[in-house]
Amino acid sequence: MDGLFFIQTMEPLLDREGWVLGYFESVFQLSAERSGEIVKDIAMMVAVSSLSVLAAALVLLPIFVAFNRGVMGLSRRLLDANIDILTVLGSAIAKRDSDTHAHNYRVTILAIRLAEAMDLDAASIRRLVKGAFLHDVGKIAIPDHILLKPGKLDADEFAVMKTHVVRGLDILHSSAWLADAADVVGGHHEKFDGSGYPAGFAGGAIPAIARIFAIADVFDALTSRRPYKDPMPFAAAMDILHAGAGGHFDPDMLARFAAIAEGLHGRLTTLGDVGVEGELRRLVGHYFVSSPA
Ligand SMILES: [Fe+2]
Repeated sequence: MDGLFFIQTMEPLLDREGWVLGYFESVFQLSAERSGEIVKDIAMMVAVSSLSVLAAALVLLPIFVAFNRGVMGLSRRLLDANIDILTVLGSAIAKRDSDTHAHNYRVTILAIRLAEAMDLDAASIRRLVKGAFLHDVGKIAIPDHILLKPGKLDADEFAVMKTHVVRGLDILHSSAWLADAADVVGGHHEKFDGSGYPAGFAGGAIPAIARIFAIADVFDALTSRRPYKDPMPFAAAMDILHAGAGGHFDPDMLARFAAIAEGLHGRLTTLGDVGVEGELRRLVGHYFVSSPA
């Protein structure tokens, strides 16, 4: 009070059995000199505590920064390793099917660009990328005499071939990170009018990223060179896609694709099979670095 300190005490007064008989209360006023000393002591304690916290922070900050940088580096390397596995697994399947790495890479680029044109969020695009690499992973379980048969498959063989979708989903279940690919792996043979497989889903019941992937996959299959065929000219390939609008393909997505397809096709043709890998890594890096996978 008024810059002075007072000390109040209260002592219980007990009888011989320990019962409280009453209380002794006292109030002392400290001298101005003693009050001043107490204020100085408090100020000193606050200053020493603050300096200690500051000193500890200065010592620990570089350690935390270095530790955090180390963790970020390890996360980055782990992500790179996961993406490498994704690429290798996708390419291994493509090799079995006599496709090329480049087909997988181009389809993924086309699908990402169409997804961007459709304003899909980054998380959906990451799922699309994983699905694009692994869409045919279930083909690993299809016997060679069916998978590699040069002619048309008969009904029984086609029934076996169709199981690659469900087998692919089984494979993905073994990894939480790869399970994101399930929408594309499970939906890449569905058709917009419901005539696809395995579920026969139609329209919006087919995941958007699977509808996007279907357009990219067919476009690249038509326009790329294979051992048994020359690339189809761009305009002829687009005619085939347009013929599938509302049947195989989502018509709105196809219209969006038609608006960007010529530029994309030109870019992919310029890059060639070698350049396409760098382009894909740059795109994939963008989506997998900016936020956790
Ligand atoms: Fe497939």
